Amino acid sequence: MHRIIIAYLYLAVHVATGQDMGYHPGKYPGRIIMSWNGMPETSRTITWWTDTTVTKAEIQWLVSDASSNLAEKAQNQPVTTRRAVVEGITAHFHTAHLKGLDPGSVYTYRVGKTDLWSEWFQFNTIDHEAPGLNFIYLGDAQNDMRSLWARTIRQAYTQSPKADFILHAGDMVDHSNENREWGEWFEAGGWIFASVPQVLVPGNHEYVRSSSGDSQRLCDYWRNSFTLPENGPPGLEETVYYLDYKNIRLIVLDSRDMLISEAHSKTQAQWLENILANNPKQWTIISHHHPIYSARGNRSGYDMARYLQPLYDKYKVDLVLQGHHHSFARGRKVEEVGQSKHEGPVYFVSNSGPKMYDTNFAGWMERVATDVQLYHIVNITGDRLTVKTYLVNGKLYDQIELVKNKDGSRQFREIKVEGVNERLDFSHATYGADIDTSEAYRVLYKKRALEYMKRRKARE
Ligand SMILES: [Fe+2]
Repeated sequence: MHRIIIAYLYLAVHVATGQDMGYHPGKYPGRIIMSWNGMPETSRTITWWTDTTVTKAEIQWLVSDASSNLAEKAQNQPVTTRRAVVEGITAHFHTAHLKGLDPGSVYTYRVGKTDLWSEWFQFNTIDHEAPGLNFIYLGDAQNDMRSLWARTIRQAYTQSPKADFILHAGDMVDHSNENREWGEWFEAGGWIFASVPQVLVPGNHEYVRSSSGDSQRLCDYWRNSFTLPENGPPGLEETVYYLDYKNIRLIVLDSRDMLISEAHSKTQAQWLENILANNPKQWTIISHHHPIYSARGNRSGYDMARYLQPLYDKYKVDLVLQGHHHSFARGRKVEEVGQSKHEGPVYFVSNSGPKMYDTNFAGWMERVATDVQLYHIVNITGDRLTVKTYLVNGKLYDQIELVKNKDGSRQFREIKVEGVNERLDFSHATYGADIDTSEAYRVLYKKRALEYMKRRKARE
């Protein structure tokens, strides 16, 4: 009887706290994620995990057909399987590379092995006839991914189901060595992750914190769970890389690594300069986790900025997509604020999860929001780039446009969103956020907010 009671209590506690949630690898494929490792326009890479009993996995794939006898028509392709112990959990990680894909097509695939298959997923290949491209950009997910972040990625996908890819600007989880957190993140993304290429940027929380608070080791989940380009500097494969797709060059940097030492900063900056100097694409977009300009009340900028920002100006980078400061800020270097013609990039700081910080209303900001979860849809069509910023409930909050002239100069325009008030509330402290909640700081915050609103009104 005692045993039954203990078992019941054990079960009750687990159900009530959500512990585990079955986020361990099993015989069926789990954590299936699509990404790019090779040529983005003609390939896809699929990565998933299982328990160690699955030693020989496969992918079956074909151009999608309306008939249901997909298995009979599909080609079977072997995949690579690697046994790894990730933060204490032993699993098999499987990777499949689909190459030579035809443009403008819908393909379908499933992964696994006999009697242990995933569902069939479908994906679209590049459409050269379509005018331009779209992608989704998301800031930090980080906390309560299952409960509170799931709606962000699902709303973003609903808004832009034909997105060419989804960019995550770092801090997808809070404790990168905790399996449960990755389990939540994968559950929230679900079949979207298996159907749209995910472009992943490492944040500080993808590094494992030691007992001294130091975080210099990339978590083991990163290189096992994701298969990303390996064209970065030696030793930084899959965290520093670039992708060429249609008329954009998208560059991912590892800002946490840059902050480890000056030598690390120099390594990435030298690599970046080469990639920027030899760039045949019309548009250049860069993403890294830590922002060039601070968006937080009590934080200054980061040292890596002095290596990167001059390169951004020199090579006329168009967009810099960042996270880390848990609010929304969009702006440019101070001299360009309010101007239509500009030389430097447009900088974004964003936040897709539930953790909220305050903002510093710094001079570089042209648009701000606090206490918001949001997502962005970037559209690039020929010589025109637009970024639409949506609140998680699907309401448009901000919209900008860059037009590139033949001589490479650019015109900037904010397209005013009518009937949307600025969201500048003083943030409630969440998830251990170290916000100064003293009365003196609240007064200062309010003063800064009023000054910011004055500057905005003056530009209208
Ligand atoms: Fe961060």
